Amino acid sequence: MKIKNICCIGAGYVGGPTMAVIAQKCPEIDITVVDINEKRIAAWNDENVDNIPIYEPGLSEIVEEARDRNLFFSTDIDAAIDKADMIFISVNTPTKTYGIGKGMAADLKYIELCARQIARVAKDDKIVVEKSTLPVRTAQALKDILDNTGNGVNYQILSNPEFLAEGTAVDDLMDPDRVLIGGDIDTSEGEEAVQALVDIYAHWVPEDRILTTNVWSSELSKLTANAFLAQRVSSINAMSELCEKTGADVNEVSIAVGMDSRIGSKFLKSSVGFGGSCFQKDILNLVYIAKSFGLNEVADYWEQVIIMNDHQKKRFASNIVKTLYNTVSGKKIAFLGWAFKKDTNDTRESAAIYVADYLLNEQAEIVIYDPKVRAEQIYADLDYLNTRTEEENRKQVKVVNSAYEACEEAHAVALLTEWDEFKELDWKKIYESMLKPAFLFDGRRLLERKTKEKIGFEFYAIGS
Ligand code: NAD
Ligand code: UDX
Repeated sequence: MKIKNICCIGAGYVGGPTMAVIAQKCPEIDITVVDINEKRIAAWNDENVDNIPIYEPGLSEIVEEARDRNLFFSTDIDAAIDKADMIFISVNTPTKTYGIGKGMAADLKYIELCARQIARVAKDDKIVVEKSTLPVRTAQALKDILDNTGNGVNYQILSNPEFLAEGTAVDDLMDPDRVLIGGDIDTSEGEEAVQALVDIYAHWVPEDRILTTNVWSSELSKLTANAFLAQRVSSINAMSELCEKTGADVNEVSIAVGMDSRIGSKFLKSSVGFGGSCFQKDILNLVYIAKSFGLNEVADYWEQVIIMNDHQKKRFASNIVKTLYNTVSGKKIAFLGWAFKKDTNDTRESAAIYVADYLLNEQAEIVIYDPKVRAEQIYADLDYLNTRTEEENRKQVKVVNSAYEACEEAHAVALLTEWDEFKELDWKKIYESMLKPAFLFDGRRLLERKTKEKIGFEFYAIGS
């Protein structure tokens, strides 16, 4: 079966970049990315390609090449579903904020709405691809909804979880470690659907990196991969606290441990805590699933990864207060970085949000600079916590356009995101503009201690 038309529901951090790369690599396939968010779709269609809603290195060039050739962004969801042979569902699956499973389970309401819309609109057979990260066995629920609409359409459900990381999305999509496709491989129709998706990726991914499994393995592998990655960060962060007490240096420990080929060197960088829209949500979901099967030891084991991460964020913030003579009330703290990692404008679950909240509770004044995050996003992140009023957030927090402006007359600087440009700052100029003693807290192990101490900073870094 040759796919000619693709529809992707959800024009977010996954749907946008993934479809842009498929469109670039498969010019013979027409791809329409749809979303209920009109503003987002308008931004994807902005004449000035620099205004697309997601910042990812290399993305705007690809969008510029493929847009209006075989890549389209639209709010007409029905039309795109109707036309498509293959429909990717790439909508958000956040942690539930209400009802059963509140704070743990994935909220599947957006997924279900997509399924019902497909069921209502589809007039001919469709392959439906789960691109969103979903709890294991969600495909069954999708199939139940789709199969019970009585309009005689045959659906094949595939699971094709996305492993891209933000900040490197384009590179990850162009050269993935593997592509995972789960399908009903015991039936010829299922096998044909899997092959149709394999054929798309085979345009640029070597076939030995395209892995096919049953649907449940594919769904569960995604949660497992994120749990393992986050676990490594929490493991090294646990060691960072021990390093600070013992004179060991977490970077040196990380190199020594990572050179063991059985362990490997990636994801062993100690930090102020992992953030992002995926790790916490997916582990909480895993914990919830394990609990729902009565597997309490399994649930507790993975929950510890989150507990450690919360501890790391809190520990970083409380160390600032302790070091500044046990009070930050009325003191100006400069934040360098707000995004959850460098090279993205995404701030979801960023450690900076929680560090700020802690310091604001201690009545600090915070001045923030991030090269890619806009002020309105920063205020929205703080307002969302509901810890204080919107007016108080705007009174206590200022957002500025340069690192130098943020640091002027500050009591302390906290580095929260590892943007490359922070390494190149004129740190002597920053030191001179600050109140003395000038404290510098490096939450990312980005800066060199020796040179900063030589300038005169009181320097604190995670893990040494
Ligand atoms: P996102 O919030 O950036 O985008 C989701 C989009 O779906 C939104 O624009 C929203 O308006 C739209 N949407 C929701 N319901 C809709 C509906 N019924 N019809 C049409 N549009 C609808 O989310 P994201 O970061 O792209 O993540 C999407 C999924 O991919 C999640 O399940 C996530 O866990 C998974 N994932 C994310 C990443 C990542 O790095 N962000 C990586 C791998 C997997
Ligand atoms: C993650 C997964 O890596 C990706 O495969 C999945 O598809 C989505 O979730 P993402 O959240 O975009 O991707 O970024 P990632 O690079 O994994 O970083 C997550 C967080 O961990 C960031 O806050 C990052 O700063 C932190 N991190 C990562 C560390 O603190 N130390 C490390 O060594 C690696």
